[in-house]
Order: sequence, then C-alpha cells, then structure tokens
Amino acid sequence: MIITLDGPSGSGKSTLAKKISKIFDITHIDSGSIYRAIAYSFMINEVTEKDYQNHLKTVDIGYEKNGVTLNGKNLKNEIRTSEVSDLSSKIATEQFVRDFVDEKIREIANKKSVVVDGRDIGSTVLPNADYKFFIEADVKKRATRRRIQLKRKNPNSDINIREVQEDLIKRDERDKNREISPLRIPEKAYIIDTTNDSIKDSIQKIIKVIKEGE
Ligand code: DC
Repeated sequence: MIITLDGPSGSGKSTLAKKISKIFDITHIDSGSIYRAIAYSFMINEVTEKDYQNHLKTVDIGYEKNGVTLNGKNLKNEIRTSEVSDLSSKIATEQFVRDFVDEKIREIANKKSVVVDGRDIGSTVLPNADYKFFIEADVKKRATRRRIQLKRKNPNSDINIREVQEDLIKRDERDKNREISPLRIPEKAYIIDTTNDSIKDSIQKIIKVIKEGE
C-alpha cells in the first residue's frame, strides 16, 4: 500500500504521516527531511553552488527506520533550523537534487508499504499511489504551529511570529512557483483542511477515506 500526503509547510502532514504509519504498521518517509539533509551537508561542508552536483555524488545519505542519516548518523534537530529550511527549499529547485531524492523514495516504496509526505509525492514521485491526500491549513495557523515547533527545539530562543509567517510565505511561494515539480494538488487527491481540526479529527478523516476505499 502506498499513501501520499502533500502540502505546504506547517500544514501538519509529517505529524499525520507519522501517525498513519503507526496505525497501519507501514514505513513513514518524510521526504522534506532528505532535502534538509542534503542542504545540511552543503552547509556544514561549505559547498558553493557550482559544486553542489559533485558534492551530491560523494554524499552518503540514507533513510532508516529512525529517519534520515548522513554518513550513518541520524539527523534530528540540526536539520530543523530556519537556515536549513531556507536552503532546502532553494536546492529543491534543482533537477539533480530532485532526482536524487526521488530515487531514494522509489527504492523504498518498491519494496514495502509506505506513507510518504512532501510537496510532489502524489503528483510526480509516486503518481500510482493507492491513496493521495493534500493537507492544507490557513497561513496564520501554520505559522503558529511552526513557532511552537521551533520553540520546543530551542526553548530559549526569541522567535517572532511575524518573522515565522514571512519565512513560511516566502518558502511556499518558492515551492509553488518553481519550474520542476512544484507544490500542487495531485490528481484524485483528497483535500484535508487541518485549520480547525485536532490531529485526531484529521486522522479520522484520512482513515475513513482509506477504509471506505478497501
Ligand atoms: O517538508 P519540509 O518543510 O521539511 O521540506 C523542506 C523543503 O524541502 C521544502 O521547503 C521544499 C523541499 N521539498 C520539496 O521540494 N519536495 C518535497 N517532496 C519535500 C520537500
């Protein structure tokens, strides 16, 4: 079984995907975390734009049960900073970066049941998925959620809600307007608006679609 959840930043798609993976006992792939791992590797190795493609050929990025790895080490909070968010969205406009990520996802999805979240999973990466969802929420709600997430990771930081919202809008625009594989609603996707719903409510809506489709 292949389930895809696409949507903008802060829509809740990763949280929902994680829960769905537990309910159906299948593998969760957070595709954004692979873009983030690549961006992080470029960042810590101070790779300049002209060397991105060469660096990517040498980099060891994997995806295991506990998430994305770089040279065998699990990446967690270090890929959740605003710098990595911004760079991951920039490098995601490059075809060679997208090919690298798509290949990793398809390799796993060929072998087992998966729930994958991202921007172009149902439209480009796994268009033959069994169930496709598009997760959305209004931008104010998404910014509030993102701020809570950032605060949780870095309790002493002074994070301004307006700045978070501006960053989200900037990233959304880039993700929606890029030439290759932009963020869009995949054909035959079910739209789930999470603005006023709890995680539990959204999960129930998703499960209802899956159960009725069986
Ligand atoms: O879901 P996220 O915020 O962790 O993703 C980080 C960036 O990666 C996002 O701004 C755009 C890019 N991305 C993408 O282009 N395609 C995907 N399927 C997933 C993420």
